[in-house]
Amino acid sequence: MNRVVVGAQWGDEGKGKIIDILAKDADYIVRYQGGSNAGHTVVVDGKNYIFHLIPSGILHKGKICCIGNGVTVDPSALIKEIKELAHMGINIGGRLKISPLCHIIFPYHKILDDLREKKLVHKIGTTRRGIGPCYADKINRCGIRMVDLLNPRVLKDKLMNNLEEKNEIFKKVYHHKGFDFPLLYREYTGYAAALAKYVVSISSLLEQANRSKKDILFEGAQGTFLDIDFGTYPYVTSSSAISGGCTIGSGVPPHFIDKVIGVAKAYTTRVGEGPFPTEFTQEFSRIIREKGSEFGATTGRPRRCGWFDAVMVKQAVLVSGITELALTKLDILSGLKSISVAVGYKYKGKTFKYFPYDCEVLEGVKPVYKELPGWNENVSSTKHYKEFPRDFRNYVDFLQDILGVRISMVSVGSSRSQTVFI
Ligand code: GDP
Ligand code: IMO
Ligand code: MG
Repeated sequence: MNRVVVGAQWGDEGKGKIIDILAKDADYIVRYQGGSNAGHTVVVDGKNYIFHLIPSGILHKGKICCIGNGVTVDPSALIKEIKELAHMGINIGGRLKISPLCHIIFPYHKILDDLREKKLVHKIGTTRRGIGPCYADKINRCGIRMVDLLNPRVLKDKLMNNLEEKNEIFKKVYHHKGFDFPLLYREYTGYAAALAKYVVSISSLLEQANRSKKDILFEGAQGTFLDIDFGTYPYVTSSSAISGGCTIGSGVPPHFIDKVIGVAKAYTTRVGEGPFPTEFTQEFSRIIREKGSEFGATTGRPRRCGWFDAVMVKQAVLVSGITELALTKLDILSGLKSISVAVGYKYKGKTFKYFPYDCEVLEGVKPVYKELPGWNENVSSTKHYKEFPRDFRNYVDFLQDILGVRISMVSVGSSRSQTVFI
């Protein structure tokens, strides 16, 4: 059984926690897009692990963790993550595999990301990890891949050419001094030496795995509405975060995929700028942010919070072919008198049942809400679905009906045991 896990909202849905749970029954866990902009939290035995590049299945002994070609790799961030894991007693040994086709993030990507954001009138609110500029180089065919990093002559040539162009942009557009070739070259040949042992063709590895009936779990980063095509463009990331991204981002054919598991929070959050139809008032946002610890796992920025938006999640089900859904953070809704769910949008007298792609429309829509009764009980230690309060189950059933997809897991806390299968 090969499964893909995708975020159904704007990221931070709790994918890391769900991947960790599902990884128990998988042999390979594969990241296929994004980079160190991702922050996937896994809590085991009270210890908090935040994964940026390493797949969230790494805590399970013996599982092979792959970084597919679609991921942008910041070598300094990856090496730091490997060291931190070793420090916490997690031995990645021969379990980490990196595609030679991954594009490499350089400091000029990160600085460009930062300078560009500062200059923009309508800011995106990026994580400033160099993701956009690195993918831009990839598409512009001047990117430097892992395989290039491992070849000193190719690296020298490509880096020199890139710096010539980038330094001109730095100086003329941003009044920044730019970067020295010798220093960067030395730094990156050092990274090459440290990472070479992990590099292997991921597509061949997964093909063999599939042939020997091994189970592959693909780990999406970000979420549907941060997808470069299907998200709230331009307030998106620069990769394909929907389920389809897993085939191009890891080199496996579409028929490998048996199931698509969407992850959605029981409410909505977003970090960064862009439209957010169901966003709470500032005061209520602050309350839920504190209660749900809604601060970015990568940047620490406060997350914006709002009601569950069924128009959005329905669209995510459609574009990713989600076959079942994991609903997280239901515990955070305990104690509310009533809970609202957006079931449609109104804009200039028109009713939208489907997600509009015009950002101007999206900025101006008024959600049509269905109000449901809340529950008071603390649900974080409930172990069986039928033991949840009636109104809790009523909320889950309502979402299931309106989304037209089975909710197969509910999560009521960050640890493994706080997960109930339905
Ligand atoms: P990801 O990027 O989708 O992996 O999500 P993040 O790790 O960025 O953010 C999710 C946060 O919610 C993490 O701090 C998780 O530990 C936490 N979390 C996940 N599921 C639950 C849940 O059901 N209840 C609570 N209270 N926290 C959860
Ligand atoms: P995980 O995998 C939430 C957001 C940024 C910004 C936009 C573009 O943890 O769910 P980028 O640095 O990618 O160019 O930023 O995307 N963003 C995320 N938001 N979760 C993430 O990852 C995100 N990765 C990027 O905040 O709005
Ligand atoms: Mg996250």
